[in-house]
This record gives sequence, C-alpha cells and structure tokens, in this order.
Amino acid sequence: MENSRSDVIIHVQHLRTQFSRTVIHNNLNLDIYRGEILSIVGGSGTGKTVLLRQMLRLEQPRQGSVTIFDVDLNHASQKQIAYFRSRSGMLFQHGALYSALSVFDNVAQPLRELSILPESLISDAVYLKLDMAGIGPEHAQKMPSSLSGGMVKRVALARALALEPEILFLDEPTSGLDPDSSESFVSLIKSLHKELGFTVVMVTHDLDTLFALSSRIAVIADKHIIAIGTTSEVIQHHHPFIQEFFLGSRGLRALAAIDPVATSAST
Ligand SMILES: Nc1ncnc2c1ncn2[C@@H]1O[C@H](COP(=O)(O)OP(=O)(O)O)[C@@H](O)[C@H]1O
Ligand SMILES: [Mg+2]
Repeated sequence: MENSRSDVIIHVQHLRTQFSRTVIHNNLNLDIYRGEILSIVGGSGTGKTVLLRQMLRLEQPRQGSVTIFDVDLNHASQKQIAYFRSRSGMLFQHGALYSALSVFDNVAQPLRELSILPESLISDAVYLKLDMAGIGPEHAQKMPSSLSGGMVKRVALARALALEPEILFLDEPTSGLDPDSSESFVSLIKSLHKELGFTVVMVTHDLDTLFALSSRIAVIADKHIIAIGTTSEVIQHHHPFIQEFFLGSRGLRALAAIDPVATSAST
C-alpha cells in the first residue's frame, strides 16, 4: 500500500526529549498512517512510554513537534487538546482501572466526563462497549479487585473504546497476562481493528503480540527510530538491538510461527 502525506494521522518531527541532563530522544522522526497498527519496540528505558505520552500531550518535548489530526500540539489550545484526547483511547500498562469504581462506572467515566449524554444513553453505551470487549453484563457491578488480569485489560479496553476513538494507544497491552489470556486479547484487538478501522499505536516487547498485530514496526535505539517497516523489512537491519531482539532464539521461534519465509530469508 502506498501512503500519501494526507494519510498521516500522527507526524513526529525532530523530537528531542530530555530529563535534566539525560537525553532520551534526539531527532526522532515518525509518521503513523491512518488505519494501521504501528508497533513501537525498543529496550527498556528508551522512551517508548514517554513518546506515547507526548502524542497525548501529557508530556511536552524539549524540541521538535508532534502533529496529530493535522494540529501541531506545540500550538494547540487547551480546547483542541481536550478535543483530540476525546478522539483517542488509551490503555496504559499501569493503573488500568480506578479501583474504587465498579466495572460499569469505569467504562462510564469518559462518557460522563463529556457531560452531554443522559444516564440512560450512557448505560446503553457502557453495555455495548463491555460486550465488544467480551465482558458480559453480569460483571458490570463487580469491582476491579475481583477480576482476573485478562478481564481487567478487557474492561480497560472497553473504557478506551467508550468514545469511539479514531486512535487507540496501547502500552504493553499483554504484559502480565498468561499466554492464553494474552492470545485472546490479541484476537480481540485484531477483530475490533478490522471492524472499527481505528489506528492503533502500540508499545510491546511481546513478540507474539507484535507479529500477530503489527502493520508496521518502528524500532527505537540510539535515541531515535533506527528502522521502520514490515517485520521482514525491519529484520534486514544489522543494528545489534534488532539482531538480538528479532533474531535471538525467542525471536526466531516467534517468527517461524508466523512467517517461515521471512525467517529462512534472513539466515
Ligand atoms: N517525568 C520524568 N522525569 C524524569 N525522567 C523520566 C520521566 N519520565 C520518564 N523518565 C525517564 O525516561 C526514560 C524513558 O522512560 P520510558 O518512556 O518510561 O521508557 P520505556 O521505553 O521503558 O517505556 C527512563 O529512563 C525514565 O526513567
Ligand atoms: Mg514503558
């Protein structure tokens, strides 16, 4: 598929991120296309979570810009930022749900925050989103502490989908899940993406999740994106991180499971 400039939904340009003297990103450039599932991989502490936070303007870069829905966040008003956050769903690794709120109230929270919908419509929307995320209505009044890890992720996903986002941000969505829950969460994302057509920006170090979902993979190392493309394109790069991450024994096993051609071509 050829992508033109107008298909770019997130445009990151010359980004520099620095915390006191520590430089995290330097001249990082990244274009994310409408409708794709773009996965970001990189070693621990390379600034993957910070990059997602910058896309949501929860964090501000030292230099450079993030343009989203054609608005440069450096010049966006509070109103514009609130508006595009309402068009984005976020599923963060930690603090996925409010522990003091029931499943129902967790999913209702972004809808209530809009304060334009009557409670009867909110209720319909909550049950619809729970259903989409594979959670039956009998769980609606449960508290997060009584749910399994896989169910917490599903409820968090239902909440992220509450406002029918155009972009879904997922930070390590399957970390901490057992292999079965992880696999079923991946299928859920895959079918929702197909059905609803949103753009997904995902950070993951789980190779099975990565290969099952990604349209393209972007690799962060040396403070910027060193490679971006399909799996078979990315593994052609000779950077040590790529060699170790994709072509170590775990990577090769996961690759062989999805794409025997890509694996044999690289060895
Ligand atoms: N608000 C902050 N203040 C200072 N340092 C931070 C802040 N946020 C992140 N960092 C540091 O930036 C680096 C990248 O963090 P992060 O994006 O969480 O990495 P990861 O790629 O593992 O998600 C880490 O060294 C982290 O400690
Ligand atoms: Mg992180």
